[in-house]
Amino acid sequence: MYKSPSHLSEVARKAIAAALNERLADGLDLHSQIKVAHWNIKGPGFAALHPLFETFAIGLAAHNDAIAERAVTLGAKAYGTARHVASHSKIPEYPQETTKDLEHVKLLAERIDSYLVEARASRAIAEQHADTDSADLLTGVIGEFEKHAWFLRASLDS
Ligand SMILES: [Fe+2]
Repeated sequence: MYKSPSHLSEVARKAIAAALNERLADGLDLHSQIKVAHWNIKGPGFAALHPLFETFAIGLAAHNDAIAERAVTLGAKAYGTARHVASHSKIPEYPQETTKDLEHVKLLAERIDSYLVEARASRAIAEQHADTDSADLLTGVIGEFEKHAWFLRASLDS
């Protein structure tokens, strides 16, 4: 671990940074999946959903960067190569042959749910160690992606 400006113990910083790196792997995986949906979507919903998926991807890219930089601020390294992500992500693989608009909506809603489950668990780790800053960072991500999940489920009318 690097020397950190954080007041937290090294044990706490290690545990939180490990959780942040897990969420970074998930977030980078989910970002690539959202882009695949953005590129391949077809159907009557295209005009609305193609740009909507892009807004999800742009938001998630910024969160991934913030999560990586928080891990390094805590004195750890950030891990994010494609090969690392492929072997560490907890998000199910995306069926890339999918084209139908509402099928993409359903697949992304399910994957955002998986992402949120783990993000809440990581926030709980930050809270256990009284790391308000990491918890706040994750709360921002969770709030935004709960809203995205609502947009998707509203599109499915379910
Ligand atoms: Fe694009």
